[in-house]
Amino acid sequence: MEDYLSVALPKGRLGEKVLQLFKKAGIADIDIEKAGRKLCIEDEAAKLRFILVKPYDSAVFVERGAADVGVCGYDVLAEQHSDVYELLDLGFGKCAMCVAAPKGFVDANAGPLKVATKYANAAEEYFSSKGRDIDVIKLNGSIEPAPMLGLSDVIFDIVETGSTLRENRLEVVEKAFDVSARFIANKASYNFRNKEIRTIADRLAKAAAEMQEQN
Ligand code: PRP
Repeated sequence: MEDYLSVALPKGRLGEKVLQLFKKAGIADIDIEKAGRKLCIEDEAAKLRFILVKPYDSAVFVERGAADVGVCGYDVLAEQHSDVYELLDLGFGKCAMCVAAPKGFVDANAGPLKVATKYANAAEEYFSSKGRDIDVIKLNGSIEPAPMLGLSDVIFDIVETGSTLRENRLEVVEKAFDVSARFIANKASYNFRNKEIRTIADRLAKAAAEMQEQN
């Protein structure tokens, strides 16, 4: 059991892409459909154990050593300041962290700007770098209706296709930073199992580059 290397895999769309990449890289071949409600799936031949986690928790599993390596969005790393090694930008799961507001919004600068977000730390840091005082309204999702309901002036959230913004009559005011999926490693695991982890990272890098060329 112990020689299995564990991988924190974000559930959902991102996780499916990651599994495609592992397969393309010839590292592991997992059929997530067969897992049912099981949250740990093993590839016996590859000696890999995939732990299915919420995307937002992936870096926590890796940072605390519950997983040796994992994949998470840069948005999560920026918010949590996770103490992990970031080994690779996988080049997918691309989106941008943006400030968005109702069309025509102008910041009158009268008192703190009310910002609804899941990313309280990242929002504080971003606005503080611009010298703008904010009042963070921390939500766990469904951020977009906040301005319409008077809960906030603006939102600070990831934008991928922009359709959620459009459907809630919001527009991007400014982009804070780009986001994409990152392959990360627990620091101790990276030291003790360096060869294995390096091999996986190198193969993933090659497969990710091929995947990007095809798109
Ligand atoms: C994210 C984000 C936006 C949406 C952006 O939410 O918070 O709501 O995706 O995507 P789009 O630009 O393609 O419309 P997610 O679907 O992850 O759900 P959440 O609100 O529960 O975080």
